[in-house]
Amino acid sequence: MAHELWTVKYRPRTLSEVIGNEKAKATLLEWAKAWKEGRVPEKKAAFLYGPPGTGKTVTVQALANDLGFDLIETNASDFRTEEQIERLVGPAAFSYSLFGKPKMILFDELDGITGTADAGGLSAIMKLIRRARCPIALIANNPWDPRFRPLREMCLMVEFKRVSSREIMKLLQRICEREGIAADREALAFIAKRADGDVRSAIMDLQAVAQGRKRLTYDDVAWLGMRDRKKEIFRVLGNVFHAESCSRALSATREADVDLDMLFEWIYENVPRAYKDPREVARAMDALSKADIFKGRIIRTQDWGLGRYVTTLMTAGVALAKEHKPGFVRFQFPERIRYLARGKSERELQMAIARAIKRACHVSTREAREKIIPYLRVIFQNNPEMAAGIARWLGLDEEAINFLAADKKKAKQIISIVKGA
Ligand SMILES: Nc1ncnc2c1ncn2[C@@H]1O[C@H](COP(=O)(O)OP(=O)(O)OP(=O)(O)O)[C@@H](O)[C@H]1O
Ligand SMILES: [Mg+2]
Repeated sequence: MAHELWTVKYRPRTLSEVIGNEKAKATLLEWAKAWKEGRVPEKKAAFLYGPPGTGKTVTVQALANDLGFDLIETNASDFRTEEQIERLVGPAAFSYSLFGKPKMILFDELDGITGTADAGGLSAIMKLIRRARCPIALIANNPWDPRFRPLREMCLMVEFKRVSSREIMKLLQRICEREGIAADREALAFIAKRADGDVRSAIMDLQAVAQGRKRLTYDDVAWLGMRDRKKEIFRVLGNVFHAESCSRALSATREADVDLDMLFEWIYENVPRAYKDPREVARAMDALSKADIFKGRIIRTQDWGLGRYVTTLMTAGVALAKEHKPGFVRFQFPERIRYLARGKSERELQMAIARAIKRACHVSTREAREKIIPYLRVIFQNNPEMAAGIARWLGLDEEAINFLAADKKKAKQIISIVKGA
């Protein structure tokens, strides 16, 4: 499966495959073992917290797998109300497992719940913990939200830290071996360092630059640094298209400081790349067209409060348009913007040439642009000797010569005459 995400393909199945955070893993293992052996630990719930991509979710999954728990997973969009929680996990939480596998319950991405208007979900979770007869794991990025305080007091708090780049590098090395890629140390070190402790984004970056290659050198990855802004947008897009909940998709825009209009173009361009099912594409485009209507309304009324509808529609609306998880997507630069960008640099080139003509001939740049450049073009495309003379006289650089000749071979010829003189 060429389009499989490497974060899924190489997801740890057992605790020993989770890299870093040794202390957190040991604490959790001890806590879960107590449950397994029929001793109810002092804290019935464990609250895992820490930055994204450090392995919180996979640790709970691997732990349950290693100790033979049946893991019941939910995330914030599933547990807004007490009733939802009872229905989803109630039966598991209150019955002893006499015959079947013992259960473990996971409430993932709790950050999402504090953002919602009704905090009924939180108090229901606390009620559930008090009565539960099985281990409960909670996960959030930021546990210091004041609304979590009562919850924090009843939980075993387990901190996940950023993973060291040395550990990340070893993991990238293993992945490259499995993929049959000979990777230079410096290349992997670069990716690992850039990830700043986020294992998920290191693996995503690796896949973006290395998939399908036999060899990976420093030069292959160095552009990641130069094009950080572009990478940043790739990450945001990945978060939008892979999000499985509204809150995840929305938080993608909060994490990145990109211009809203630019983000809109990026999402618009990449919907057909991310989604393969035409119905999904149609639903996503529908959300985008609604976002566009709000954008228009903002411009007309100057009511910036409407901005939140635009962001919600273009992120959550697009994320929830899918039924299937998209695989690895090779994101594409928005064509419309590329076109504008190209036009602009041509304009700039033309202005630079016009200014050179102005200096040499004492005409206005406008005159130069309208009356002289068209003739220069004819000359540059037909008479390399003469063109070279003019280029020298005006002090045109290679870029300008390329522009006027509009042909690589002719430009090369002119340039070699200029240099030969
Ligand atoms: N410590 C780790 N060891 C090995 N792989 C990891 C680790 N952390 C993350 N990964 C990789 O990144 C992916 C995402 O990890 P995970 O979902 O556990 O992150 P998380 O800490 O829950 O992040 P978030 O806060 O965004 O939910 C995993 O599928 C795995 O491929
Ligand atoms: Mg997670």
